[in-house]
Amino acid sequence: MKTQYYMHTKWAGKNIIFYEKTGSTNIDAKRLAQEGAPHGTLVVAEEQTDGRGRRGRSWQAPAGKNIYFSMILRPKFAAEHASMLTLVMAMSVARAIRERSGLETGIKWPNDIVVNKKKICGILTEMTLEERAIGYVVVGVGINVNQQVFPEDIRETATSLFCESGRIFSREELLQSVMEAFEADYETFLKTEDMSLLRKDYNAWLVNTDSQVKVLEPTGDYVGIAHGINEKGELLVERENGQLEIVYAGEVSVRGICGYV
Ligand code: BTN
Repeated sequence: MKTQYYMHTKWAGKNIIFYEKTGSTNIDAKRLAQEGAPHGTLVVAEEQTDGRGRRGRSWQAPAGKNIYFSMILRPKFAAEHASMLTLVMAMSVARAIRERSGLETGIKWPNDIVVNKKKICGILTEMTLEERAIGYVVVGVGINVNQQVFPEDIRETATSLFCESGRIFSREELLQSVMEAFEADYETFLKTEDMSLLRKDYNAWLVNTDSQVKVLEPTGDYVGIAHGINEKGELLVERENGQLEIVYAGEVSVRGICGYV
């Protein structure tokens, strides 16, 4: 029998549901949450045939190489705090990758993990409301671990732990480290229900800090210097005329001036 790679992952005694092949773990997690799956349920897949990315994009998810998971959370806090969970997860993944591989890892605001200016992990967070309170949150994470070749269209912008180090990594150990880091970071987040206590740490991971970024807004793009996040997880950008802008995640894109980052 094929060994499922996550088999020994310890996740604080919580549910782990595994699919050999599925469309999208985010879709599965949303269905399971509707059916009553408890807080902390982790949905893991070996392969996704319809992986979802942010902004309606797809997420390539070949079999047996990478990590694809979605976590169901049922937080008690107000709905406006939920988008910050994506930043919390980004920190946890960045820390786990650095710990396991020693690679110089960074976060491109709000939640792309990058190594050598290329994306190694993406996070898609989705939430449902029930009478204006959070019903559940699904945090979906794709980490490129042992993938050796990427399709032409993303070759310039995507990478994996293997591509950056020439080594094969245990997906189980990496997933375990992500879970341990997230448990600790989530606990810290709950103390204030915002990024107050995590902000300094997050800003240290941020590749955009004090660098020039282009903010792509529906009302017009502008260039400025990013100065890290505030306690709400918003990016502070100083325009060329000195005016400070507060950039909300999800509403705009931020591009580095050189290359992908
Ligand atoms: C992004 O566009 O950067 C977000 C990508 C998120 C991909 C992960 S893989 C596991 C989970 N299931 C999905 O369908 N998407 C997320």
